[in-house]
Amino acid sequence: MKRYELPTMFTIRGVIRKLGRRRLSFCVVLALFFLIALQIFFHPNVKDMLELHKCPACYGVSLCSDILQGPSEISISFDYMGRLGVFANIITTKNVFSGLLNDKRVIVKRLGHSSELHLLDKKICLAMGSQEDCGAKLKQVVLKVPNIHGSIEKVLNESKDFNEFRLRLCPSTEHVRTLFSPILPKVNGSNDGRLDNDGTTAHIWTLLLINPEPLFLQIMRAEDGWPVPHYLGACGRIAVTLHAGEPLVDFLHRSWPERAGLALQLLLAADRFTFSHPQFAFYLLDISSDNIVVNEKGKLSFVDLEHLVVVDRHPTYIPDTWNESHVSEVYDDCPGCNTFSSDSLCQHHISDHNHHVICEQLLGPGIGSSGNSLPGGLLHSIPSDIQKQYPQIVVFLNECSLGKGKDHIRSARRLRDTLNIASKESPLFGDQKLLQTWKYF
Ligand SMILES: Nc1ncnc2c1ncn2[C@@H]1O[C@H](COP(=O)(O)OP(=O)(O)OP(=O)(O)O)[C@@H](O)[C@H]1O
Ligand SMILES: [Mg+2]
Repeated sequence: MKRYELPTMFTIRGVIRKLGRRRLSFCVVLALFFLIALQIFFHPNVKDMLELHKCPACYGVSLCSDILQGPSEISISFDYMGRLGVFANIITTKNVFSGLLNDKRVIVKRLGHSSELHLLDKKICLAMGSQEDCGAKLKQVVLKVPNIHGSIEKVLNESKDFNEFRLRLCPSTEHVRTLFSPILPKVNGSNDGRLDNDGTTAHIWTLLLINPEPLFLQIMRAEDGWPVPHYLGACGRIAVTLHAGEPLVDFLHRSWPERAGLALQLLLAADRFTFSHPQFAFYLLDISSDNIVVNEKGKLSFVDLEHLVVVDRHPTYIPDTWNESHVSEVYDDCPGCNTFSSDSLCQHHISDHNHHVICEQLLGPGIGSSGNSLPGGLLHSIPSDIQKQYPQIVVFLNECSLGKGKDHIRSARRLRDTLNIASKESPLFGDQKLLQTWKYF
Protein backbone atom coordinates (compact mmCIF):
# COMPACT_ATOMS: atom_id res chain seq x y z
CA MET A 1 0.00 0.00 0.00
CA LYS A 2 1.26 3.45 -0.87
CA ARG A 3 2.18 5.68 2.03
CA TYR A 4 -0.35 8.39 1.22
CA GLU A 5 -3.30 5.97 1.14
CA LEU A 6 -3.04 5.29 4.86
CA PRO A 7 -4.45 8.56 6.22
CA THR A 8 -7.43 8.26 3.82
CA MET A 9 -8.21 4.75 5.14
CA PHE A 10 -8.07 5.99 8.74
CA THR A 11 -10.34 8.94 7.90
CA ILE A 12 -12.96 6.66 6.30
CA ARG A 13 -12.84 4.24 9.25
CA GLY A 14 -13.14 7.21 11.64
CA VAL A 15 -16.21 8.51 9.83
CA ILE A 16 -17.89 5.05 9.88
CA ARG A 17 -17.18 4.70 13.60
CA LYS A 18 -18.50 8.17 14.38
CA LEU A 19 -21.70 8.03 12.34
CA GLY A 20 -22.56 4.37 12.73
CA ARG A 21 -23.32 2.12 9.75
CA ARG A 22 -27.06 2.89 9.65
CA ARG A 23 -26.75 6.62 9.63
CA LEU A 24 -23.94 6.41 7.10
CA SER A 25 -26.07 4.28 4.74
CA PHE A 26 -28.88 6.82 5.09
CA CYS A 27 -26.48 9.67 4.17
CA VAL A 28 -25.19 7.75 1.14
CA VAL A 29 -28.73 7.05 -0.12
CA LEU A 30 -29.69 10.69 0.43
CA ALA A 31 -26.61 11.87 -1.48
CA LEU A 32 -27.39 9.49 -4.35
CA PHE A 33 -30.98 10.68 -4.45
CA PHE A 34 -29.78 14.29 -4.55
CA LEU A 35 -27.33 13.62 -7.40
CA ILE A 36 -29.97 11.82 -9.49
CA ALA A 37 -32.49 14.63 -8.87
CA LEU A 38 -29.87 17.17 -9.93
CA GLN A 39 -29.26 15.21 -13.13
CA ILE A 40 -32.96 15.00 -14.01
CA PHE A 41 -34.53 18.24 -12.83
CA PHE A 42 -31.85 20.93 -12.59
CA HIS A 43 -30.99 22.44 -15.97
CA PRO A 44 -29.76 26.00 -15.49
CA ASN A 45 -29.29 28.07 -18.63
CA VAL A 46 -26.10 30.05 -19.33
CA LYS A 47 -28.31 32.60 -21.07
CA ASP A 48 -29.65 33.77 -17.72
CA MET A 49 -26.13 34.87 -16.81
CA LEU A 50 -25.37 36.98 -19.90
CA GLU A 51 -27.11 40.23 -18.86
CA LEU A 52 -26.59 41.49 -22.41
CA HIS A 53 -28.88 44.45 -21.73
CA LYS A 54 -26.03 45.93 -19.65
CA CYS A 55 -23.52 46.00 -22.54
CA PRO A 56 -21.25 47.81 -23.17
CA ALA A 57 -20.96 47.80 -19.36
CA CYS A 58 -20.01 44.16 -19.78
CA TYR A 59 -16.98 41.99 -20.56
CA GLY A 60 -17.31 41.97 -24.36
CA VAL A 61 -19.42 40.49 -27.13
CA SER A 62 -16.80 38.59 -29.17
CA LEU A 63 -18.27 35.19 -28.33
CA CYS A 64 -21.96 36.10 -28.69
CA SER A 65 -22.24 35.11 -32.34
CA ASP A 66 -20.78 31.69 -31.51
CA ILE A 67 -22.96 30.95 -28.54
CA LEU A 68 -26.28 32.59 -29.37
CA GLN A 69 -27.99 30.42 -31.93
CA GLY A 70 -31.35 32.17 -31.96
CA PRO A 71 -33.68 33.99 -29.57
CA SER A 72 -33.68 31.15 -27.08
CA GLU A 73 -30.99 28.74 -28.30
CA ILE A 74 -27.55 28.83 -26.74
CA SER A 75 -24.64 26.55 -27.60
CA ILE A 76 -23.02 26.49 -24.16
CA SER A 77 -24.45 24.01 -21.70
CA PHE A 78 -23.31 23.18 -18.20
CA ASP A 79 -21.86 19.74 -17.74
CA TYR A 80 -22.64 17.77 -14.59
CA MET A 81 -19.97 19.52 -12.49
CA GLY A 82 -21.08 22.86 -13.88
CA ARG A 83 -24.65 22.22 -12.77
CA LEU A 84 -23.40 21.15 -9.39
CA GLY A 85 -21.50 24.45 -9.35
CA VAL A 86 -24.62 26.46 -10.17
CA PHE A 87 -26.45 24.63 -7.42
CA ALA A 88 -23.62 25.25 -4.94
CA ASN A 89 -23.66 28.86 -6.03
CA ILE A 90 -27.09 29.27 -4.44
CA ILE A 91 -25.33 28.65 -1.14
CA THR A 92 -21.73 29.79 -1.61
CA THR A 93 -21.72 32.31 -4.50
CA LYS A 94 -18.62 31.06 -6.27
CA ASN A 95 -19.21 31.92 -9.91
CA VAL A 96 -17.01 29.57 -11.95
CA PHE A 97 -18.72 26.78 -13.92
CA SER A 98 -17.63 24.01 -16.23
CA GLY A 99 -19.55 23.33 -19.41
CA LEU A 100 -19.52 22.36 -23.06
CA LEU A 101 -19.33 24.60 -26.11
CA ASN A 102 -19.63 22.69 -29.38
CA ASP A 103 -18.20 19.56 -27.74
CA LYS A 104 -15.25 21.46 -26.25
CA ARG A 105 -14.88 21.49 -22.48
CA VAL A 106 -15.01 25.09 -21.32
CA ILE A 107 -14.98 27.16 -18.16
CA VAL A 108 -17.56 29.91 -17.80
CA LYS A 109 -16.70 32.69 -15.35
CA ARG A 110 -18.91 35.49 -14.14
CA LEU A 111 -15.72 37.01 -12.68
CA GLY A 112 -17.01 37.86 -9.26
CA HIS A 113 -19.13 36.72 -6.40
CA SER A 114 -22.77 37.83 -6.56
CA SER A 115 -22.22 40.68 -4.09
CA GLU A 116 -19.23 41.94 -6.12
CA LEU A 117 -21.30 41.89 -9.31
CA HIS A 118 -23.97 43.94 -7.60
CA LEU A 119 -21.32 46.41 -6.43
CA LEU A 120 -19.94 46.66 -9.97
CA ASP A 121 -23.18 48.21 -11.27
CA LYS A 122 -23.20 50.62 -8.36
CA LYS A 123 -19.60 51.69 -9.09
CA ILE A 124 -20.42 52.37 -12.74
CA CYS A 125 -23.47 54.43 -11.82
CA LEU A 126 -21.45 56.28 -9.20
CA ALA A 127 -18.89 57.32 -11.83
CA MET A 128 -21.66 59.40 -13.43
CA GLY A 129 -22.66 60.93 -10.12
CA SER A 130 -25.71 58.72 -9.70
CA GLN A 131 -25.82 57.64 -6.06
CA GLU A 132 -28.37 54.89 -6.56
CA ASP A 133 -28.62 52.05 -9.04
CA CYS A 134 -29.02 53.75 -12.43
CA GLY A 135 -30.87 50.74 -13.87
CA ALA A 136 -31.49 50.83 -17.60
CA LYS A 137 -29.27 53.93 -17.94
CA LEU A 138 -26.20 51.82 -17.13
CA LYS A 139 -25.47 51.08 -20.77
CA GLN A 140 -25.39 54.78 -21.69
CA VAL A 141 -23.49 55.76 -18.58
CA VAL A 142 -20.48 53.66 -19.45
CA LEU A 143 -20.05 55.48 -22.79
CA LYS A 144 -20.44 58.93 -21.26
CA VAL A 145 -17.91 58.71 -18.46
CA PRO A 146 -15.93 61.95 -18.73
CA ASN A 147 -12.29 61.19 -19.61
CA ILE A 148 -12.48 57.40 -19.63
CA HIS A 149 -8.70 57.19 -20.23
CA GLY A 150 -8.21 59.07 -16.93
CA SER A 151 -10.76 56.85 -15.18
CA ILE A 152 -8.87 53.74 -16.29
CA GLU A 153 -5.55 55.16 -15.07
CA LYS A 154 -7.24 56.04 -11.77
CA VAL A 155 -8.44 52.45 -11.27
CA LEU A 156 -4.93 51.17 -11.97
CA ASN A 157 -3.53 53.59 -9.37
CA GLU A 158 -6.28 53.25 -6.81
CA SER A 159 -5.49 49.58 -6.45
CA LYS A 160 -2.77 50.66 -4.02
CA ASP A 161 -5.38 50.06 -1.36
CA PHE A 162 -4.58 46.50 -0.33
CA ASN A 163 -8.17 45.50 0.48
CA GLU A 164 -9.34 46.54 -2.97
CA PHE A 165 -6.34 44.93 -4.59
CA ARG A 166 -6.80 43.53 -8.08
CA LEU A 167 -4.45 45.15 -10.51
CA ARG A 168 -1.83 47.79 -10.11
CA LEU A 169 0.18 49.27 -12.97
CA CYS A 170 3.33 50.98 -11.70
CA PRO A 171 5.64 52.87 -11.19
CA SER A 172 3.57 54.93 -13.62
CA THR A 173 0.51 54.37 -15.80
CA GLU A 174 1.96 56.28 -18.79
CA HIS A 175 2.06 53.15 -20.99
CA VAL A 176 -1.46 51.98 -20.23
CA ARG A 177 -2.33 52.00 -23.96
CA THR A 178 0.67 49.79 -24.72
CA LEU A 179 -0.52 47.35 -22.05
CA PHE A 180 -3.97 47.09 -23.58
CA SER A 181 -2.85 47.35 -27.21
CA PRO A 182 -3.57 43.66 -28.00
CA ILE A 183 -7.21 44.42 -27.10
CA LEU A 184 -7.67 47.92 -28.53
CA PRO A 185 -8.45 48.39 -32.22
CA LYS A 186 -5.35 49.56 -34.12
CA VAL A 187 -5.29 53.20 -35.22
CA ASN A 188 -3.64 53.72 -38.65
CA GLY A 189 -1.67 50.52 -38.22
CA SER A 190 -0.17 51.82 -34.93
CA ASN A 191 -0.02 49.46 -31.99
CA ASP A 192 -1.00 52.04 -29.40
CA GLY A 193 -4.78 52.12 -29.83
CA ARG A 194 -6.90 54.83 -28.22
CA LEU A 195 -8.80 54.61 -24.97
CA ASP A 196 -11.85 56.54 -26.19
CA ASN A 197 -15.44 56.40 -25.09
CA ASP A 198 -16.24 53.40 -27.25
CA GLY A 199 -17.41 49.82 -26.68
CA THR A 200 -13.94 48.27 -26.32
CA THR A 201 -12.81 50.83 -23.75
CA ALA A 202 -16.08 50.37 -21.88
CA HIS A 203 -15.36 46.62 -21.68
CA ILE A 204 -11.82 47.29 -20.41
CA TRP A 205 -13.05 49.69 -17.76
CA THR A 206 -15.83 47.32 -16.64
CA LEU A 207 -13.33 44.45 -16.35
CA LEU A 208 -10.90 46.59 -14.38
CA LEU A 209 -13.69 47.34 -11.92
CA ILE A 210 -14.55 43.67 -11.39
CA ASN A 211 -11.73 41.32 -12.49
CA PRO A 212 -9.04 41.98 -15.13
CA GLU A 213 -8.43 38.30 -15.91
CA PRO A 214 -9.92 38.30 -19.48
CA LEU A 215 -7.74 41.31 -20.33
CA PHE A 216 -4.61 39.43 -19.32
CA LEU A 217 -5.67 36.31 -21.18
CA GLN A 218 -5.60 38.51 -24.29
CA ILE A 219 -2.29 40.20 -23.40
CA MET A 220 -0.50 36.95 -22.41
CA ARG A 221 -2.14 34.67 -24.95
CA ALA A 222 -1.99 30.88 -24.59
CA GLU A 223 -1.55 30.79 -28.39
CA ASP A 224 1.75 32.65 -27.93
CA GLY A 225 3.02 30.15 -25.38
CA TRP A 226 2.00 31.82 -22.10
CA PRO A 227 1.07 29.21 -19.46
CA VAL A 228 -2.60 30.27 -19.23
CA PRO A 229 -5.86 28.80 -20.60
CA HIS A 230 -7.01 29.59 -24.17
CA TYR A 231 -9.40 32.52 -24.04
CA LEU A 232 -12.43 31.99 -26.23
CA GLY A 233 -14.08 35.36 -25.64
CA ALA A 234 -16.86 37.07 -23.74
CA CYS A 235 -20.56 37.54 -24.17
CA GLY A 236 -22.18 40.06 -21.86
CA ARG A 237 -21.29 39.28 -18.27
CA ILE A 238 -19.57 35.95 -18.86
CA ALA A 239 -16.02 35.16 -20.04
CA VAL A 240 -15.19 31.74 -21.47
CA THR A 241 -11.90 29.81 -21.64
CA LEU A 242 -11.02 26.28 -22.63
CA HIS A 243 -10.93 23.82 -19.76
CA ALA A 244 -7.20 23.55 -19.03
CA GLY A 245 -7.05 20.53 -16.72
CA GLU A 246 -7.28 19.40 -13.11
CA PRO A 247 -5.87 21.20 -10.04
CA LEU A 248 -2.14 20.83 -9.38
CA VAL A 249 -2.85 19.35 -5.96
CA ASP A 250 -4.16 16.19 -7.68
CA PHE A 251 -0.63 15.61 -9.01
CA LEU A 252 1.09 15.67 -5.62
CA HIS A 253 1.55 11.90 -5.56
CA ARG A 254 2.51 11.27 -9.17
CA SER A 255 5.91 9.74 -9.97
CA TRP A 256 8.92 11.93 -9.21
CA PRO A 257 9.88 12.48 -12.87
CA GLU A 258 6.32 13.65 -13.61
CA ARG A 259 6.42 16.04 -10.66
CA ALA A 260 9.86 17.24 -11.69
CA GLY A 261 8.37 18.03 -15.14
CA LEU A 262 5.67 20.12 -13.50
CA ALA A 263 8.26 21.82 -11.25
CA LEU A 264 10.28 22.71 -14.32
CA GLN A 265 7.21 24.21 -15.99
CA LEU A 266 6.53 26.28 -12.87
CA LEU A 267 10.09 27.60 -12.88
CA LEU A 268 9.88 28.40 -16.60
CA ALA A 269 6.55 30.14 -15.96
CA ALA A 270 8.19 32.34 -13.29
CA ASP A 271 10.75 33.42 -15.90
CA ARG A 272 8.09 33.96 -18.50
CA PHE A 273 5.83 36.18 -16.35
CA THR A 274 8.80 38.18 -15.10
CA PHE A 275 10.96 38.63 -18.18
CA SER A 276 9.36 37.80 -21.49
CA HIS A 277 7.13 40.80 -22.21
CA PRO A 278 9.16 43.58 -23.87
CA GLN A 279 7.61 46.34 -21.73
CA PHE A 280 6.13 44.86 -18.56
CA ALA A 281 6.85 42.38 -15.77
CA PHE A 282 3.78 40.56 -14.45
CA TYR A 283 3.80 39.58 -10.77
CA LEU A 284 1.05 37.14 -9.83
CA LEU A 285 -0.33 37.72 -6.37
CA ASP A 286 -2.45 34.61 -5.96
CA ILE A 287 -0.14 31.73 -6.80
CA SER A 288 -1.51 28.61 -5.12
CA SER A 289 -2.09 24.98 -5.98
CA ASP A 290 -5.83 25.73 -6.51
CA ASN A 291 -5.12 28.32 -9.13
CA ILE A 292 -2.90 26.11 -11.30
CA VAL A 293 -4.22 23.20 -13.37
CA VAL A 294 -2.59 20.47 -15.45
CA ASN A 295 -4.11 18.91 -18.58
CA GLU A 296 -3.95 15.28 -19.75
CA LYS A 297 -0.73 15.99 -21.69
CA GLY A 298 0.95 17.29 -18.54
CA LYS A 299 0.79 20.95 -19.62
CA LEU A 300 0.32 23.37 -16.79
CA SER A 301 -1.77 26.60 -16.79
CA PHE A 302 -2.30 29.45 -14.34
CA VAL A 303 -6.09 29.87 -14.25
CA ASP A 304 -6.63 32.69 -11.76
CA LEU A 305 -5.25 36.02 -12.98
CA GLU A 306 -7.41 38.30 -10.87
CA HIS A 307 -4.68 39.81 -8.70
CA LEU A 308 -1.57 41.21 -10.34
CA VAL A 309 1.08 43.88 -10.07
CA VAL A 310 2.25 44.94 -13.52
CA VAL A 311 5.57 46.78 -13.48
CA ASP A 312 6.40 49.00 -16.43
CA ARG A 313 10.06 48.18 -16.98
CA HIS A 314 10.73 51.27 -19.10
CA PRO A 315 9.15 54.23 -17.31
CA THR A 316 10.19 57.83 -18.04
CA TYR A 317 10.89 58.64 -14.40
CA ILE A 318 12.56 55.97 -12.33
CA PRO A 319 12.40 55.53 -8.55
CA ASP A 320 15.70 55.77 -6.57
CA THR A 321 15.92 52.03 -5.96
CA TRP A 322 15.00 51.14 -9.54
CA ASN A 323 18.27 49.54 -10.63
CA GLU A 324 18.55 47.19 -7.64
CA SER A 325 16.68 43.88 -7.87
CA HIS A 326 13.90 43.45 -5.34
CA VAL A 327 14.46 40.46 -3.04
CA SER A 328 11.43 38.89 -1.33
CA GLU A 329 11.58 38.81 2.45
CA VAL A 330 11.65 35.48 4.29
CA TYR A 331 10.21 35.84 7.80
CA ASP A 332 11.39 33.64 10.69
CA ASP A 333 8.31 34.41 12.78
CA CYS A 334 5.85 33.84 9.93
CA PRO A 335 7.10 31.04 7.69
CA GLY A 336 5.41 30.76 4.32
CA CYS A 337 3.40 33.89 4.96
CA ASN A 338 3.86 35.09 1.41
CA THR A 339 3.73 38.71 2.53
CA PHE A 340 4.80 41.26 0.00
CA SER A 341 4.53 44.95 -0.52
CA SER A 342 3.25 46.13 -3.87
CA ASP A 343 5.14 49.39 -3.25
CA SER A 344 8.43 47.48 -3.12
CA LEU A 345 7.61 45.56 -6.30
CA CYS A 346 6.88 48.88 -8.01
CA GLN A 347 10.16 50.48 -7.06
CA HIS A 348 12.47 47.97 -8.72
CA HIS A 349 13.02 47.09 -12.36
CA ILE A 350 12.90 43.42 -11.42
CA SER A 351 11.63 41.38 -8.48
CA ASP A 352 12.09 37.75 -7.50
CA HIS A 353 8.43 37.61 -6.36
CA ASN A 354 7.24 34.99 -8.90
CA HIS A 355 10.30 32.77 -8.47
CA HIS A 356 10.24 32.96 -4.69
CA VAL A 357 6.51 32.27 -4.27
CA ILE A 358 6.64 29.33 -6.68
CA CYS A 359 9.59 27.82 -4.81
CA GLU A 360 8.21 28.54 -1.36
CA GLN A 361 4.52 27.79 -1.84
CA LEU A 362 4.64 24.99 -4.38
CA LEU A 363 8.00 23.29 -4.78
CA GLY A 364 9.77 23.27 -1.42
CA PRO A 365 8.77 21.53 1.80
CA GLY A 366 7.95 24.83 3.58
CA ILE A 367 8.22 25.24 7.31
CA GLY A 368 5.39 24.57 9.72
CA SER A 369 1.75 24.14 8.86
CA SER A 370 1.34 27.33 6.84
CA GLY A 371 4.56 26.77 4.92
CA ASN A 372 3.29 25.45 1.63
CA SER A 373 0.06 25.25 -0.35
CA LEU A 374 1.11 21.72 -1.46
CA PRO A 375 1.90 19.74 1.72
CA GLY A 376 5.51 18.55 1.54
CA GLY A 377 6.08 20.41 -1.73
CA LEU A 378 5.79 19.15 -5.30
CA LEU A 379 9.40 17.91 -5.27
CA HIS A 380 8.97 15.73 -2.17
CA SER A 381 10.48 12.23 -1.91
CA ILE A 382 13.41 12.77 -4.27
CA PRO A 383 14.61 9.29 -5.34
CA SER A 384 17.88 8.37 -3.60
CA ASP A 385 19.77 7.91 -6.89
CA ILE A 386 18.82 11.42 -7.96
CA GLN A 387 19.71 12.81 -4.52
CA LYS A 388 23.14 11.19 -4.68
CA GLN A 389 23.90 12.28 -8.22
CA TYR A 390 22.40 15.77 -7.99
CA PRO A 391 22.70 16.96 -4.37
CA GLN A 392 22.37 20.53 -5.71
CA ILE A 393 18.62 20.00 -6.25
CA VAL A 394 17.98 20.18 -2.49
CA VAL A 395 20.45 23.03 -2.05
CA PHE A 396 18.90 25.21 -4.77
CA LEU A 397 15.37 24.29 -3.67
CA ASN A 398 16.12 25.42 -0.12
CA GLU A 399 17.82 28.56 -1.34
CA CYS A 400 15.02 29.68 -3.65
CA SER A 401 12.27 28.86 -1.13
CA LEU A 402 13.70 29.61 2.30
CA GLY A 403 16.99 31.41 1.68
CA LYS A 404 17.04 34.72 3.52
CA GLY A 405 18.43 37.61 1.46
CA LYS A 406 19.35 35.15 -1.30
CA ASP A 407 19.04 35.85 -4.99
CA HIS A 408 15.93 33.69 -5.41
CA ILE A 409 15.87 34.13 -9.19
CA ARG A 410 19.40 32.77 -9.50
CA SER A 411 18.72 29.74 -7.29
CA ALA A 412 15.40 29.05 -9.06
CA ARG A 413 17.19 29.11 -12.40
CA ARG A 414 19.92 26.80 -11.11
CA LEU A 415 17.24 24.43 -9.88
CA ARG A 416 15.56 24.63 -13.30
CA ASP A 417 18.82 23.80 -15.09
CA THR A 418 19.74 20.95 -12.73
CA LEU A 419 16.31 19.35 -13.19
CA ASN A 420 16.75 19.65 -16.91
CA ILE A 421 20.24 18.08 -16.87
CA ALA A 422 19.02 15.27 -14.58
CA SER A 423 16.20 14.55 -17.00
CA LYS A 424 18.67 14.12 -19.85
CA GLU A 425 21.15 12.01 -17.91
CA SER A 426 19.13 9.85 -15.52
CA PRO A 427 17.47 6.64 -16.80
CA LEU A 428 14.61 7.46 -14.41
CA PHE A 429 13.33 9.95 -17.00
CA GLY A 430 12.90 7.30 -19.67
CA ASP A 431 9.98 9.01 -21.39
CA GLN A 432 11.79 12.36 -21.74
CA LYS A 433 8.84 14.22 -20.19
CA LEU A 434 11.02 17.10 -19.06
CA LEU A 435 12.37 17.75 -22.52
CA GLN A 436 8.82 18.09 -23.80
CA THR A 437 8.19 20.62 -21.08
CA TRP A 438 10.44 23.18 -22.79
CA LYS A 439 8.22 23.02 -25.87
CA TYR A 440 5.42 24.66 -23.94
CA PHE A 441 7.46 27.85 -23.48
N1 LIG B 1 -9.54 27.22 -17.45
C1 LIG B 1 -9.74 26.38 -16.43
N2 LIG B 1 -9.56 25.05 -16.60
C2 LIG B 1 -9.78 24.17 -15.59
N3 LIG B 1 -10.15 24.54 -14.36
C3 LIG B 1 -10.34 25.85 -14.11
C4 LIG B 1 -10.14 26.84 -15.12
N4 LIG B 1 -10.42 28.06 -14.58
C5 LIG B 1 -10.76 27.82 -13.30
N5 LIG B 1 -10.73 26.53 -13.01
C6 LIG B 1 -11.05 25.86 -11.72
O1 LIG B 1 -12.01 26.65 -11.04
C7 LIG B 1 -11.50 27.07 -9.78
C8 LIG B 1 -11.98 28.48 -9.45
O2 LIG B 1 -11.52 29.38 -10.46
P1 LIG B 1 -10.85 30.75 -10.06
O3 LIG B 1 -9.67 30.47 -9.19
O4 LIG B 1 -10.63 31.57 -11.25
O5 LIG B 1 -12.03 31.39 -9.23
P2 LIG B 1 -12.02 32.16 -7.87
O6 LIG B 1 -13.33 32.82 -7.75
O7 LIG B 1 -10.80 32.96 -7.81
O8 LIG B 1 -11.94 31.09 -6.79
P3 LIG B 1 -11.08 31.24 -5.47
O9 LIG B 1 -11.40 32.58 -4.93
O10 LIG B 1 -11.55 30.12 -4.63
O11 LIG B 1 -9.63 31.11 -5.91
C9 LIG B 1 -9.98 26.96 -9.89
O12 LIG B 1 -9.44 26.70 -8.61
C10 LIG B 1 -9.81 25.79 -10.85
O13 LIG B 1 -9.83 24.56 -10.14
MG1 LIG C 1 -8.87 30.96 -7.48
